[in-house]
Amino acid sequence: MVRKPIARRELATALEAAGIPSGTVLVVHSALGRIGWMLGGPQAAVRALQDVLGPRGTLVMPTFSFSLAAWNLPPFDPGRTPSRVGLLTDTFWRMEGVLRSSHPTHSFAAGGPLAPDIVGGPIDYEPLGIGSPVDRVRQAGGHILLIGVGQDRNSTVHLAEDLAGMPYLRVPFDGSRGYDEAWYAKHPGGEAHRLEIHRMPGSSEGFEVLDHILLRQGIVTEHPVGQTTARFMESEALCNAIVPMLAENPLLLLSASSGSEITARRRRHMESLAAKGSPNP
Ligand SMILES: CC(C)(COP(=O)(O)OP(=O)(O)OC[C@H]1O[C@@H](n2cnc3c(N)ncnc32)[C@H](O)[C@@H]1OP(=O)(O)O)[C@@H](O)C(=O)NCCC(=O)NCCS
Repeated sequence: MVRKPIARRELATALEAAGIPSGTVLVVHSALGRIGWMLGGPQAAVRALQDVLGPRGTLVMPTFSFSLAAWNLPPFDPGRTPSRVGLLTDTFWRMEGVLRSSHPTHSFAAGGPLAPDIVGGPIDYEPLGIGSPVDRVRQAGGHILLIGVGQDRNSTVHLAEDLAGMPYLRVPFDGSRGYDEAWYAKHPGGEAHRLEIHRMPGSSEGFEVLDHILLRQGIVTEHPVGQTTARFMESEALCNAIVPMLAENPLLLLSASSGSEITARRRRHMESLAAKGSPNP
């Protein structure tokens, strides 16, 4: 694909047309390369988002590093560890005035007046669960924008799994014990400390099943942005739509055709619960 140049003002105009209200809290998941060629680099794309949100808005992005001890990744250090979920996100957390949470697998960055509320405080929540940054965005009446990516990149769907009390979240990646273990560098000194994770978000490739349902229900709207499409939604409305779907079909987001080992293990767990007649022990 030949990337067509797009300027900050042009991007902001396209985002405004998507209906993003100024002053909201907005979580953005993105594939920068699909927009076209952003003149002024990734910083200009961040500025375009901030132009739309205005001074009272708060911009939030995932900056996940997946710093699991078992995956041989270095201990997470919020001031050094790169984001592994896109160039825009890795640019954003390094910009002046932007705060980053210290979760060793699923950190978020935020800039704007509500940033300390969204990413501050101790890590006393599961990565994308109740009390996490995505939940705080929901509670603040915030919105979600997917630029060039689908629902399989929407972290708030994992929040909906937690709100729905899905028992499969308790099946860890680490089959050798009952939980996963992340690690982070504790300052001063930088020595590695460990954090137990008891409800690790699994593979999200099955989330694509939601796309046409949510579009049909009007919960998600689609908008052209440069050479790609953006999907826009309210966080609370998204969760309110998914929770009853999961109550009706707890396997909905665990794609049977997924090649992912964790999804297969989580499906087996749910099937064994169903065989015992207990959907939620
Ligand atoms: C994986 C993912 C990030 C890849 O998207 P991508 O557009 O290929 O990559 P990035 O967003 O990192 O941007 C880098 C690309 O932008 C290009 N780029 C660099 N400067 C650019 C600019 N000024 N304008 C446009 N593109 C630019 C880079 O060359 C690179 O493209 P290339 O790989 O073809 O060389 C994306 O598919 C994705 O999944 N995003 C969401 C991630 C997320 O939020 N995950 C959390 C929930 S699971």
